[in-house]
Amino acid sequence: TSLGIDVGTSGLRGLLIGEDGGVVGSAERSYSATSRQPGWSEQDPADWIAALNETVDELRQKFPSFSQLRGIGVAGHMHGATLLDAAGEVLRPCILWNDTRSHVEAARLDSTDGVRATSGNIVFPGFTAPKLEWVRKHEPETYAKVHKVLLPAAYLNYYLTGDFVADMSDSAGTSWLDAGERAWSGHLLNASNMRLDQMPRLVEGSEAAGTLRAKLQSDWGLDGAVTVAGGAGDNAASACGIGALNAGQGFVSLGTSGVLLAARDGYRPAPETALHTFCHAVPDRWYQMGVMLSATDSLNWLSRMVGKKPSELTAALGETIQPPQDVRFLPYLSGERTPHNDPEIRGSFTGLSIATTQEDLTRAVLEGVAFGLRDSFEALKATDAKLTDVFAIGGGSASRYWLQVIATLMDMPLKLPGSSEFGGAMGAAKLGQIAATGAPVEGVISVPEVQAEIEPVRALSDAFEEKYQAYRRAYGGIKAIQ
Ligand code: XUL
Repeated sequence: TSLGIDVGTSGLRGLLIGEDGGVVGSAERSYSATSRQPGWSEQDPADWIAALNETVDELRQKFPSFSQLRGIGVAGHMHGATLLDAAGEVLRPCILWNDTRSHVEAARLDSTDGVRATSGNIVFPGFTAPKLEWVRKHEPETYAKVHKVLLPAAYLNYYLTGDFVADMSDSAGTSWLDAGERAWSGHLLNASNMRLDQMPRLVEGSEAAGTLRAKLQSDWGLDGAVTVAGGAGDNAASACGIGALNAGQGFVSLGTSGVLLAARDGYRPAPETALHTFCHAVPDRWYQMGVMLSATDSLNWLSRMVGKKPSELTAALGETIQPPQDVRFLPYLSGERTPHNDPEIRGSFTGLSIATTQEDLTRAVLEGVAFGLRDSFEALKATDAKLTDVFAIGGGSASRYWLQVIATLMDMPLKLPGSSEFGGAMGAAKLGQIAATGAPVEGVISVPEVQAEIEPVRALSDAFEEKYQAYRRAYGGIKAIQ
């Protein structure tokens, strides 16, 4: 038995799988991110630990095979800075991936010689290195005490094993890793005033990071020793969950963030496109992705404004997509990464009329996010990343309407997996299984059965294309008046 843990932005999910990869069961607990100032997004790592312990308690009670646990893998939301002092205590709330406070520091680092070339990426404000520069400037007393910087998944590895260990896929999002060499870079660390001894040890996601602490082994009622894998950033873990290791394979993820990911056949950085080029969670592989900061976050925002659940809003649209109307939504509630790298842009509705309905607003939000994903699709095409087999994952993929709009804009069918368990937690569980058993990567990480394909609605392709071109122009217009 293997346990996958997915530390997400809105909650933690634990998934148990058997030796054959079949799902035994799952449990989850939610928590939220707080925003003390505009552009800020933080979480208390103690919330992750509390959620983990409650999730494990539930799994233990419900599934007797939990006691035979052999492997654990952790997937986490990427880029978050969890700062620890010399005693291993958390120094301040974790600064998350969608926090853009460090945009000044990010721009300075991004223009430093050799930084893009070594990290393979733009230094986005959400990445980890500029966050530490911000802390150095604004919280010098905290900064002086920083003994280790851990990403959320690596913080859980530390809680589970007592060691500071991170995997390559997550570490690639720090702006401290040479993503081609899969090693910490002295040049990148120097550029942001950090030291190698403040970094965790690096392993591949499918390698062992350590062994579950004896105290947890006994508290959790486990029979034998448990191997904890290096784990992964959540996007690499999701790619493992749907078996995307090779060129052509990928996914569109409608989570708090929106992601279009393509596995690559080698390391092909293209920072000028504002795509992300990161190490995969298994050796010698890389992937590329476009990231939007507010996907289901946009729908959740509308849901709060109108006082209805997101699922009620999407259900009201039915399953048949309609041509885009005049109302347009720009989904830049937290700024945007791909393709604009613009932390300061904000969202907007345009084209409102006296006749505009709540359904029109919902449709515009779904379309706006889909247009943003099309931007990432264009960026991927420009780097010659092929995408032929694309799965749809994440909470938002429950809306057929949304998927049809995206399929139409990409002119490509989107696959839905047969079971609902195929995301980050599944990928993490598989990494745990590989690390614990030594099974070959390709034997464990496989493509799930396809339950349905969402086809493009070609009768509406031209109408959506026209609206997409208008969406592209709208960014400049909104930028000019902001
Ligand atoms: C990726 C990113 C997000 C988070 C969400 O670069 O910032 O997709 O990983 O969990």
